[in-house]
Amino acid sequence: MRLLVTGGAGFIGSAVIRQTIAETDHVVVNVDALTYAGDLRRLGSAGASPRHHFVHLDICDGLGLHAVLDAHRPDAVMHLAAESHVDRSIAAPAAFIQTNVVGTSVLLDQVLGYWQALAPVARDRFRFLHVSTDEVYGSIDPPARANDDCSYQPNSPYAASKAASDHLARAWHRTWGLPVVTSHGSNTYGPHQHVEKLIPRMIARAAAGQPMPVYGSGENVREWLHVEDHARALRLLVDRGVPGRSYNVGTGDERANIDVVRQIAAVLDELRPAAAPHARFITSVADRLGHDRRYAMDADRIRTELGWTPNVAFNEGLRETVRLTLAQQAEAR
Ligand SMILES: NC(=O)c1ccc[n+]([C@@H]2O[C@H](COP(=O)([O-])OP(=O)(O)OC[C@H]3O[C@@H](n4cnc5c(N)ncnc54)[C@H](O)[C@@H]3O)[C@@H](O)[C@H]2O)c1
Repeated sequence: MRLLVTGGAGFIGSAVIRQTIAETDHVVVNVDALTYAGDLRRLGSAGASPRHHFVHLDICDGLGLHAVLDAHRPDAVMHLAAESHVDRSIAAPAAFIQTNVVGTSVLLDQVLGYWQALAPVARDRFRFLHVSTDEVYGSIDPPARANDDCSYQPNSPYAASKAASDHLARAWHRTWGLPVVTSHGSNTYGPHQHVEKLIPRMIARAAAGQPMPVYGSGENVREWLHVEDHARALRLLVDRGVPGRSYNVGTGDERANIDVVRQIAAVLDELRPAAAPHARFITSVADRLGHDRRYAMDADRIRTELGWTPNVAFNEGLRETVRLTLAQQAEAR
């Protein structure tokens, strides 16, 4: 099988490629613009595999995509390239509209032309996995959980740009029959995440003896998913997801941000007892604009229809993430 992965130098895309190269015979074409968020070192030894082909390309470049599709003839596309940080979308939304909305439409257009020209058997087998987020559903009041077909109420520019891209992917399926499968993943964590995101940022700050800034009261609740579990779900969806369907990918493991930050401090106390207690670095800062209170999904469809279950429990996953992130951040200095 030949897979085209967009955003394969990013946090989740690189995990998809590492797993694919390690566990299958597939060939992977990795299309990534290498923005500030992209780093090919995340691929480790998979990056040097003869089955990994890197193409430095912006998904807004239609001619470039056309040439890549023509040269590599993929059997499936996994679309992860995106601007992904909510705070940046509040500071400067234009890049989010450009990559997440315009870029997705350019990619869909090119893939549609490629798919329409395939032989019937190859066309039937082809899949376009559109990777989205739980943030499109907006803030969900407890005890409710968003199911796979929940209506959209995106509140940040990031969430709105992802919601727009979901609608485009749906339209390319409904209008032309492009076999699109959509995933909605929850807050993802693990080693190799960019330092701007909550968990690596808190680790870096506390390890440097600097304040660990928590938005507002820290009561905002997120559902945490380990990056290896997320990558496994995406690989399952590209193999067995039903075209036209959306699948939530969540663990049900809800935690308030303040509890996650306290837990990071506790793990650091164990790993670096001389600097304990790290919780003394936790400080409250002005809340994020429009900060969603709670994300929570019902992920029954992927569990019951496809048999996916997360393997990594949060407590173990977080401990390992803190340990590896400290090592990675030390290496980068
Ligand atoms: N991280 C999460 O918690 C999470 C949760 C659910 C869904 N998602 C979604 O998963 C996908 C991957 O997220 P991530 O956390 O790995 O993001 P990331 O920011 O770590 O990686 C994004 C990658 O896309 C590349 N990229 C950005 N703009 C591009 C463009 N115009 N053309 C080509 N490449 C471009 C970057 O260079 C980078 O390698 C995104 O679509 C995101 O919305 C993320």
